[in-house]
Amino acid sequence: MRPKRPYDFGAYASRRPQQPQDATPGLAARLAAAQAVADVLASARPLEERSEAEGRAASLDARDRALARSIVTVSLRRLGTIRKALGRFLEKGLPKKAGALEWILTVGAAQLLFLDIPDHAAVDLAVRATRLDPGATPFAGLVNAVLRNLIRAKEEILDAADPLDDDTPLWLAGRWRATYGEETARAIARAHRDEPTLDLSVKSDPAGWAQRLGGVALPTGSVRLDTHAPVNELEGYGEGEWWVQDAAAALPARLLNAGGGQRVVDLCAAPGGKSAELAVAGAQVTAVDRSAERLKRLAANFERLRLEADIVVSNALTYEAAPFDATLLDAPCMATGTIRRHPDVAWIKRQGDLPALAELQGKLLDRAIALAKPGGTIVYCTCSLEPEEGEGQIAALLRRNPDVRRVPIDAAEIGGLSELLTPAGELRTLPCHLPGPTPRQSGLDGFFAARLQRKP
Ligand SMILES: C[S@@+](CC[C@H](N)C(=O)[O-])C[C@H]1O[C@@H](n2cnc3c(N)ncnc32)[C@H](O)[C@@H]1O
Repeated sequence: MRPKRPYDFGAYASRRPQQPQDATPGLAARLAAAQAVADVLASARPLEERSEAEGRAASLDARDRALARSIVTVSLRRLGTIRKALGRFLEKGLPKKAGALEWILTVGAAQLLFLDIPDHAAVDLAVRATRLDPGATPFAGLVNAVLRNLIRAKEEILDAADPLDDDTPLWLAGRWRATYGEETARAIARAHRDEPTLDLSVKSDPAGWAQRLGGVALPTGSVRLDTHAPVNELEGYGEGEWWVQDAAAALPARLLNAGGGQRVVDLCAAPGGKSAELAVAGAQVTAVDRSAERLKRLAANFERLRLEADIVVSNALTYEAAPFDATLLDAPCMATGTIRRHPDVAWIKRQGDLPALAELQGKLLDRAIALAKPGGTIVYCTCSLEPEEGEGQIAALLRRNPDVRRVPIDAAEIGGLSELLTPAGELRTLPCHLPGPTPRQSGLDGFFAARLQRKP
């Protein structure tokens, strides 16, 4: 049983850290990190959606931006452990009317527990940040005391931290236990602890690119790199030889076996990783998405990759066109399979979001089938670990539509990795799959995919 949280971190959600009026080196990065954590946790805003402009407003140089990013990521990755540890030393709970105190403590604790930052710097900057925030100012002494206690108890806190019970929201831990069993649920949560590597999808020659970039070619054909270098500085980026895409996300599009000028529609296409695979395979791609903004990113990606597609801004539910040889539906979902790369997802999604998404997925799936010509192939996929968005969708579809059959996936199509297939021949990848030489070099995003055929 998960221990009850000793205080409610969400209660002071609307108060955010202030901008600095103190030029101490490193302070702006801490304030920006606290601001980002506040945005995600208080406003449920995905980290990815925080605009470039906001980043620039904090006027951080590249080093401080990278530091702020690692503080935010680890704060969210290990949020449960951090909250539990802080709760232990906040004997009376978090004071009411304390401004940004909660976020300052969270990022302070993240640095002390998980980052290679001198203790005195993390504590001093947290105290300075507290003094800059009108609501939090009276608690500068408390911040100092709590963080110093944390330093003393660090080893014990880290030894006791449990990935499933502490760093996974209770409702998600419960769902994964129910769906995958205790052992696999624990393995999934453990895989979320490590920041994953960079996976690339290459136009051709994975072994050659792995060698040139100092990575490994995975059995599935993706190239895995253990680097923190900015992607646009890596060889082949400017020439459009590859794009960034998790190795699991690279699997669904290939299941269409599209090529040779086949007409293929990708119904939820942006930012375009899967559309790019289809275009590289030689398909004539129509990339549909309802977000014009996200399609701009797809267009820019296609330009860099020197690929072509018909780009259409449309709601897929109302999109009309002559039937296609094949359709791909990478449906909007809870995205719980991407927590390794996006730890904010664990804390901003709510169980209550699931029914509406599952209903939308069912409707989109019906549309994807209607847009395929008789005999045409349809691939449905989601980056979710929740069965309602995967296996359950296909089971319901096969019950309601006798004109569709499932075409099982063969292990040979996914690099021989038969452990990624369900008995029904569907793809089910988990973050704990594909063990590598180190935890960081292991794992996959959690994806579901099924291949279907509209009966001739
Ligand atoms: C999981 S993302 C797609 C990722 C993309 N397939 C890739 O590989 O890069 C889901 C996309 O669905 C789009 N979307 C959501 N609802 C939609 C709808 N009703 N019609 C069209 N696109 C939709 C979103 O804008 C988002 O870009």
